[in-house]
Amino acid sequence: MHLRLAVATDAGAVAQLFHDAIRALSAGDYSSEQIEAWAGVPEAARWRDRIADQNREFWVAEVDDALAGFCDFEPDGHVDMLYVSPDHARRGVATALLHQIHESAASLGLTRLYTEASITARPLFEKHGFLVLESQDVNVRGTPLRNYRMEKKLQPEG
Ligand SMILES: CC(C)(COP(=O)(O)OP(=O)(O)OC[C@H]1O[C@@H](n2cnc3c(N)ncnc32)[C@H](O)[C@@H]1OP(=O)(O)O)[C@@H](O)C(=O)NCCC(=O)NCCS
Repeated sequence: MHLRLAVATDAGAVAQLFHDAIRALSAGDYSSEQIEAWAGVPEAARWRDRIADQNREFWVAEVDDALAGFCDFEPDGHVDMLYVSPDHARRGVATALLHQIHESAASLGLTRLYTEASITARPLFEKHGFLVLESQDVNVRGTPLRNYRMEKKLQPEG
């Protein structure tokens, strides 16, 4: 597996992976109406803007030159997106991306990471030491979706 920062030409594959991951990996955790609202329609332009955003680190993981997962991370410690291709699920791709986020956080001297984890992702974040602060229902295209506000306190280096 190879991790690198995303570039604009990744946007199409990222859009498709986002769509596929939700539909394949979260279908057991949300209703079909919720899955459709969350997955939306793949739109490369939206992802091109996120990748270009200088206020976030957007990482991709590749396996044999294919996109296996991605995450994006804001410099205040917010883990915004974390998605893995159904073809590469449960093989440590999200774990590798989270390790990268921890490295970035350490180099920025952050003392805290936080996220809004889906029902699907909650066990992954718990395994990596995140604690649930509260559950919440967020409105996604008019449909309520349950997620968990989670955080992890980091030990300052040195
Ligand atoms: C959640 C997600 C990112 C996990 O990616 P992944 O690469 O499969 O995760 P990993 O292989 O690194 O998993 C590491 C550990 O986390 C836990 N874990 C991961 N996915 C899990 C799941 N669906 N159910 C229960 N535990 C899970 C397990 O302990 C796993 O270890 P194991 O496989 O040895 O049991 C992926 O399922 C996904 O993209 N889901 C759909 C979209 C989503 O919910 N994204 C998060 C938005 S906040």
